[in-house]
Amino acid sequence: MPIAHLGHAELLVSDLDSSRDFFTRVLGLYVSDETDDQVYLRAWQDWEHHTLVLTQATESALGHTAWRVAGPDQLSEYERLLTAAGVECHWVEGGSELGQGDGLRFSSPAGIPHELYWEAARHVETDPALSSRLPSHPTRFGSTGVAPRRFDHINFLVDDALAEQQWTTDVLGIRHNYYLENEDNTRLGSWLSSNNLSHEIAIMRNRGPNGSALHHVAYFVDSPDQVVRAATILAENEIRIEWGPGTHGTSGAIFLYFLEPSGHRVEVWTGGFLLFAPDWEPIRWDRSVFQLGLDLWGSTPPESFMTRGTPFAAPALADRPA
Ligand SMILES: [Fe+2]
Repeated sequence: MPIAHLGHAELLVSDLDSSRDFFTRVLGLYVSDETDDQVYLRAWQDWEHHTLVLTQATESALGHTAWRVAGPDQLSEYERLLTAAGVECHWVEGGSELGQGDGLRFSSPAGIPHELYWEAARHVETDPALSSRLPSHPTRFGSTGVAPRRFDHINFLVDDALAEQQWTTDVLGIRHNYYLENEDNTRLGSWLSSNNLSHEIAIMRNRGPNGSALHHVAYFVDSPDQVVRAATILAENEIRIEWGPGTHGTSGAIFLYFLEPSGHRVEVWTGGFLLFAPDWEPIRWDRSVFQLGLDLWGSTPPESFMTRGTPFAAPALADRPA
């Protein structure tokens, strides 16, 4: 596939100091770079310079979500492909986002602000207190806060999940792995990936429906006990847990959702099936097993989970007048 993997997300945050404190001290991410109004973060085994960027802003929003393409020629190929599909693209010059080369940015039909990039600085630990004896550990095994291993996925709310999934698969080439449908075949959610993860991006129907929004970003921990441990760490730090721990029957992953200080929803999770088949056919979940898909242990999400998200920083290019 021409897209290799989900790379990072940029969150605009209304309270940079509080969000920085949460993501470093409580969640246990590491700062790889910092400017007056931005903090670049990564988990201890994230290989690249950053998997999350916090940018100070008046209101919390999603800045962009970024995918690394599979080779240096793919960026211009995507520009041609997207332009031919009627998608307005613009370039962000290499270095303007620290640790990253040129970025090709555009919005999906639902307004999701995507970025594609190829050049990415690989993290080299320069802090002796954080460097590891193990060549496979770009940073010493995490021991601060929740200490997730790596960035995992990003989820969105949209009004038309079917149309957004089809565009994401047909135009970006991201494989459709499994989906939920109502009795009248209304698409309630779709989960997609460019690699063998159960999903890197989810597109869920906004029950509102009041438009598109970022639903959450997720980091991966190694085991269920680490999810339980995370819940206690969050409670001790007055972080509101919105839902979980529970188990999504769809992916088989154990989840925990909570809100960081600037209002973005964050998840830590573990498990989840892997996909290896080159001819994978999406799995359909219908209404009869909907509850098992949400949480096979029986809990139901609060209403806020089905309707609340944070907005996108820029209006959808597709919605702008020509
Ligand atoms: Fe980026």
